[in-house]
Amino acid sequence: MIIKKPIGIGLMGLGVVGSGVARVLAEKGDTLGHQVGCPLSLKRVLVRDVSKKRSIEVSSSLLTTQAREILDDPEIAIVIEVMGGERPALDLIKEAIKRGKHVVTANKEVIAKHGPSLFALARKHRVELLYEASVGAGIPLIASLRQGLLANEISSIYAIINGTTNYILTQMANHGMDFSLALHQAQKLGYAEADPTADVEGIDAAYKLAILATLAFHKEILPSDVHHEGITRITARDFRYAQELGYAIKLLAIAKREIDSLQVRVHPALVPQDLLLAKVEGVFNAVQVEGDLIGRLLLYGQGAGSLPTTSAVIADAIDLAYRIHRNIPNPPPSLLAEGWSIKPISQIQTRYYLRMAVTDRPGVLAQIAKTLGDHLISIASVIQKEVDEDDQTAEIVIMTHQANEAAMQEALREAARLPVVHEVGNFIRVEG
Ligand SMILES: NC(=O)c1ccc[n+]([C@@H]2O[C@H](COP(=O)([O-])OP(=O)(O)OC[C@H]3O[C@@H](n4cnc5c(N)ncnc54)[C@H](OP(=O)(O)O)[C@@H]3O)[C@@H](O)[C@H]2O)c1
Repeated sequence: MIIKKPIGIGLMGLGVVGSGVARVLAEKGDTLGHQVGCPLSLKRVLVRDVSKKRSIEVSSSLLTTQAREILDDPEIAIVIEVMGGERPALDLIKEAIKRGKHVVTANKEVIAKHGPSLFALARKHRVELLYEASVGAGIPLIASLRQGLLANEISSIYAIINGTTNYILTQMANHGMDFSLALHQAQKLGYAEADPTADVEGIDAAYKLAILATLAFHKEILPSDVHHEGITRITARDFRYAQELGYAIKLLAIAKREIDSLQVRVHPALVPQDLLLAKVEGVFNAVQVEGDLIGRLLLYGQGAGSLPTTSAVIADAIDLAYRIHRNIPNPPPSLLAEGWSIKPISQIQTRYYLRMAVTDRPGVLAQIAKTLGDHLISIASVIQKEVDEDDQTAEIVIMTHQANEAAMQEALREAARLPVVHEVGNFIRVEG
């Protein structure tokens, strides 16, 4: 019998994802070893606190608080980084690559901000850096863009890639909750963090969109290139009105190719109810990709959670181990496209939903229509909603035709100064 030398794995992080990874390596080790062609061996696990009580039993001899015990171990060929945060994860990934170790990470922040320089470093050291779990957890998005869709010219990505905000928006839509109650419920269920800023302000979705757009358009797109807005301005009333008009409200991450520019933006949007994206509820994610050969494709599934994320992390580790075992190098490709600029949000054209509280008397609508018209914005429809007779105010909802964003922003500033406009309650872009 030939005894094959195991491929050593160093795990950095034993939290929600790391525990899943350690469990699957322990429970499915034999099957995974068969797939790879040689055993996989978990050699060290980096944590902050070795005495912490954990949901999984890991031999105390594997636990360490010293990263060098992974970095210095010549038997560890694959480092799995599931600590999260930018630092020290970034430094540890770099150090692992410099020492000739392959890396698997679920860290969207590190990949979105530093991906291209890390891939260059990996090419230099002839190792791989895989990151399937960084976007959409177990949904094979990165593999699809890196490989399955390579023959396509991708024209657009429309994605719901933050489960926390999609859960909150679903609760608001289905139960008439306001934002703070829906957020509180998401926190109680563990779907939102104690500090929910990165999710509700669209920052997490911007990281993920930067990763997807970089792959789709073969151009370095950083989180700072992505215009992002969160969901905190949306009210239960916006949901009621949107539903009456035949729309859902979603936090959309949009990447679109135009003739010589790219749009990359994250913001709430009205989406027609008959589109599949409008039907994505709760913590689920969905990414709609459009390519010249494939047409329209929708990838849908659980975008977070221990096991779905573990699924992607382990897939990357098996993929790596398979090639390490057969000595088939596959360093990250370099980016090819040059010359596309990122279109500023002020230059985009889209349709808008506007909600305003106005004085309830004849002639008011004409004043608002004139203000919009002065900026070449034409109205597609208007509905008058709740009227407060004591206050003599009414709420109106306006849907516009396609308009320029800068013109819309200026028109809204002017409208807010009209004596008949009490408040510009909200404006939401309309997509699809
Ligand atoms: N959770 C998800 O559903 C999900 C989905 C997709 C991607 N991800 C990504 O996966 C990564 C991990 O997320 P998670 O939810 O598993 O995080 P987590 O539950 O907070 O776990 C983090 C782990 O890393 C360890 N750690 C953190 N900083 C450390 C340091 N400086 N030195 C040593 N150990 C350190 C912690 O050790 P202690 O246990 O000792 O504190 C903990 O075990 C993140 O990049 C996240 O964005 C998560």
